Order: sequence, then C-alpha cells, then structure tokens
Amino acid sequence: MEISEDKWQEVTEGSTTFSIYKDADRIYDASVFYNPKMAINRDLTILSLSTIIKKEMKRICFLDPFAGTGVRSYRIINELPKDSIEKVVVGDINPIAVNIITRNSNILNHDEIMEIKHANAIDILDSLPKRKDTTHIIDLDPFGSPIEYIEESLRALRINEGYLFATATDLQVLCGKFPDSCNRIYNAKPTRHFLCHEVALRILIYNMIISAGRLGLAVKPILCYNHEHFLRVKVKVNDSKEVANKQHKKIGFVYFCKKCSYLITVELSKDLEETLCTNCSEKLEKAGPLWLGNLYELEFIEQMKKDIGQLTLQLEKKVEKLLSLILDEIKSPPFFYYIPFILRFCKKEGVSLNQIVDSLKAKNFTVSRTIFDPQGIKTDASYDEIVDVIEQY
Ligand SMILES: C[S@@+](CC[C@H](N)C(=O)[O-])C[C@H]1O[C@@H](n2cnc3c(N)ncnc32)[C@H](O)[C@@H]1O
Ligand SMILES: [Zn+2]
Repeated sequence: MEISEDKWQEVTEGSTTFSIYKDADRIYDASVFYNPKMAINRDLTILSLSTIIKKEMKRICFLDPFAGTGVRSYRIINELPKDSIEKVVVGDINPIAVNIITRNSNILNHDEIMEIKHANAIDILDSLPKRKDTTHIIDLDPFGSPIEYIEESLRALRINEGYLFATATDLQVLCGKFPDSCNRIYNAKPTRHFLCHEVALRILIYNMIISAGRLGLAVKPILCYNHEHFLRVKVKVNDSKEVANKQHKKIGFVYFCKKCSYLITVELSKDLEETLCTNCSEKLEKAGPLWLGNLYELEFIEQMKKDIGQLTLQLEKKVEKLLSLILDEIKSPPFFYYIPFILRFCKKEGVSLNQIVDSLKAKNFTVSRTIFDPQGIKTDASYDEIVDVIEQY
C-alpha cells in the first residue's frame, strides 16, 4: 500500500507526542490500529513498569510484539527514567505498522534503544533465547485472545524476575456468548450473567497458571482487572514447582444463583453434587475451572498509587479511581453478591450499598465494593448474614 504524506497526524498521549497514520475515520477501519480509549491500559503499563523498576529491576528489557503504532513503547522510553530502559523490542506483522514505528523511532531518537521487527509475534517469541536474561517483561496486546502466545512467552522470559502482561478482548467468548469456543480455547465454562467479567478474568488466569505449571513455573497475579471491553492480566513468574503445586489447589469453580445471587466457590477436587440454591431452590449456574486466588499484590498496588503523581498519565483520574477501588477490594474473597437480587429476595427497597457495606463493617466482616460491578459487594459474610443486615432497615 502506498503511504500518502497528508494522512500522518500528530497525537499526544501521556507526555509523548508521536505520529499515527490516519487513513480512516473509524479506528477499526484504519490500516493500523490506535485506540485512544486504551490509554488507561497503557497508563497502567507505565505505572506498573515504574513500580517494577523502583522495587526490583534497575534496567528493563521490554518486548512489545503486537505494537500497532508503537505508542506503548514510545511512552515507556519517553516517560520512564532514561537509565532504566535497556532495550525495547517492538514488533508487528503489519508492514504499515512497522513503517509508522520506524518513522516515529527516528523522529523521537529512539533508534539506539528500540529494535524493530516486522514479524509474526510467535516467530519473535520463538527466536528469543529461552529462560535467559534477555527479556524481562513481555506485553501481549493482540486482537482477541493472547492465549496462544502464553507458553512461548513464558519460555522466553527471564525466569523469577520476569513479568508477563496480557490483554484479552475476546469477551464474547470469555463472557459466554460463545460457550463452545470458550470450552475449546480455555477449557472452561463461562457465564453470561452478572459474574461474567470476573469469571472471564479468572478463566484467563487459570489458563496462564496451567501453561506455567506444565513448564514447572508459577505465575503470581499482581494486577489483574477488567475495564470496559478488555481484560488485563499482569503476573510475575516464579521458578518453583512447589509454589506451582500450591497454586493449582486454588483452581476451582463458582456456583451462583441467577435469581437471588447466592454463591459458593469450590476447589476443583471438591466439586459439588448438589447444585440447587439453598435459598430459592433455583438450579445454580456453574462456571470454571477458574482461578480462586488473589488478583492483586497489595504492596505493588500501593506503590503504583503513590507513583501516580510522579508520571504524566493520560487518564490520571480514571487510573486513580481504579486503583482506589482495587485497594478497597484487595482483601475481599473472590466474587461478589449482586445486591439488587438480594434486595428482591428480601422484598426490600431503598437500602443502599453503602448502608449494607457499613453495617457489615460494623459487624467486623471483610467487605468492599468491587471493580467488576457498581451494584456488587464482596464480603466474607455469608448470604444469611447479609440478609440479616438488610432486614434491619
Ligand atoms: C490491538 S493492536 C495493538 C495495539 C497496540 N499495542 C497499542 O497499545 O496501541 C494488535 C496489533 O497486533 C498486530 N498483529 C496481529 N496479529 C499479529 C501477529 N500474529 N504477530 C504480530 N502482530 C500481530 C496487528 O497488526 C495490530 O497492530
Ligand atoms: Zn437462589
């Protein structure tokens, strides 16, 4: 395709100005994909890297094999301390993307740090030395699912101090519109009901854990979240079969009631036989296998929150809000109660989520709102205890 000079457009994201090739009005029609709404994903990448650099790695080698316009990598080089970036490998299968990256790399003077590859991500990953000190962080940002690149990424990473970041946008599959595809790709049963996003995220993490386990590795979730139309998983790799074995015990299922929001989680080895809701006798919906452990690492998120002001983020307010919600929810158990269904079950109106949260806190339960649904609460109180609290009003 011929590149026409009048279609280049300057864009600023964070504190980085670069050029995109704007040959269509709709982002999905453009020759190279650039979605300004995904700036929150990139902001949180910059913030995560800033934390990793501060906490443990002085200099990072970063691989961005689905680079698109290359925006993520320019921002990393431009917005993080100069001496902390050793190398950034930037690749894309699309020749126009590579053209854009080459042009920006020249203009931004990134040539010394940036290595540009016009290749299929799988070939880039395959070509890397295995388990050596070459690549510290891999960021998978494909269209759809990152799943087919997970195992190759884990092999290519520096083990123990390596981090794998992955975005998934195949929510139609992971959120249950195409359950057969979910079963084929992720070996798991999704749901279309109110728990769909948390189930989707935990199915993706379960798959990463299984891939890592086969290689004798564990992956520790440090920041895994859902935002609008995407899921994002960031894990730290740990070269320990013992940790991996332990981690596998936190894989299981969630059973929940679509009518009254009763829920129960069970380990894989202790799967339930009785699957009727104890409250309303409705058949419980089952989802999984999925990860039942933590989605976040407390210290990591706290450090990220502290660092917000030190960086120029594009969507600072949104990032701050998300991290605050995460810090609130960090100690809560997996999955949330959907309060409108519990209120309906209790035949109560006008009791607010905050009232329920405060009452449960007063009774010393762990309780929080959740990033997954503004109408949900996470708590270690039982269903009956939540009902008791609601009945007080
Ligand atoms: C979602 S976009 C990436 C967006 C970019 N990371 C950002 O933050 O703006 C996915 C990119 O992956 C590229 N791509 C798709 N399949 C690929 C493959 N097998 N190997 C390498 N690149 C691929 C596409 O050309 C596209 O530029
Ligand atoms: Zn029920």
